[in-house]
Amino acid sequence: MAAQYDDIAVKLSDWDVLPVRSEYLEGHTFFKALGSVKGQSVLDLACGDGLYTRQLQARGAHRVAGVDISEEMIRVARQHEAAQPLGIEYHVSDVADMAPLGVFDCVTAVYLLHYASSPEHLLRMCRSIHAHLKPGGRFVTYTFNPGFSAKGPNSTRYGITMLDFPESPREGQGISAELHAKTPFTIHFSHWSRDTYERALREAGFHRLTWMRPECSPEGIARYGQEFWQDYLDNPHAVALRCER
Ligand SMILES: C[S@@+](CC[C@H](N)C(=O)[O-])C[C@H]1O[C@@H](n2cnc3c(N)ncnc32)[C@H](O)[C@@H]1O
Repeated sequence: MAAQYDDIAVKLSDWDVLPVRSEYLEGHTFFKALGSVKGQSVLDLACGDGLYTRQLQARGAHRVAGVDISEEMIRVARQHEAAQPLGIEYHVSDVADMAPLGVFDCVTAVYLLHYASSPEHLLRMCRSIHAHLKPGGRFVTYTFNPGFSAKGPNSTRYGITMLDFPESPREGQGISAELHAKTPFTIHFSHWSRDTYERALREAGFHRLTWMRPECSPEGIARYGQEFWQDYLDNPHAVALRCER
């Protein structure tokens, strides 16, 4: 998994400009699920090049740390930090094997859990996340949509195409998606059902699990029109999930 993102770290930032990745949709949904982080400590997992890590800092979090398995993604994140210091600390680690970094008011992870290679790996990730939260703290993630349908509209015109997506994906089945950046690239991850995610999170000690479908902000509708977003909203490639320790 580390190698996958080591090879595409630079291409990924190109994909960030797409409307579906923007503050109109993904950012809007994620930050709505998260709520205010003003004055709070936040651990951002699978932080990649720090796209959301920096936004968490900008929203007033007082301690922000980012963790990613890919040395190359963290190298790019640290370059941003060096160019414009915000006081964010970055660490390279598999979330499942993280050394203790302290306890945080919230842990975030935009696109992490579907990279779990087995239910056991997923459970180790969830336990590690739980161990980094204060009692009552929240975990907010954005993950591949367990209900994505091969029959629904594909997300191609929004910048992502599921390749040969099966009608009834098996637990743990490998999924590939092409991302239409300036230089297109393919990512690989695993399909896990809602039950599998929920079982791992509950076993790790989480409760009050809430799934949220993506929503478009009023600004996004004003800019592109409802019709532009509708196919994506009918069959989104990713969904938000919030739970509490
Ligand atoms: C699609 S990128 C998302 C990056 C960032 N959250 C964003 O939205 O811009 C997924 C990231 O997950 C990281 N990743 C995958 N498996 C991981 C694991 N087990 N532990 C930590 N990071 C992981 C990859 O290296 C990659 O940077």
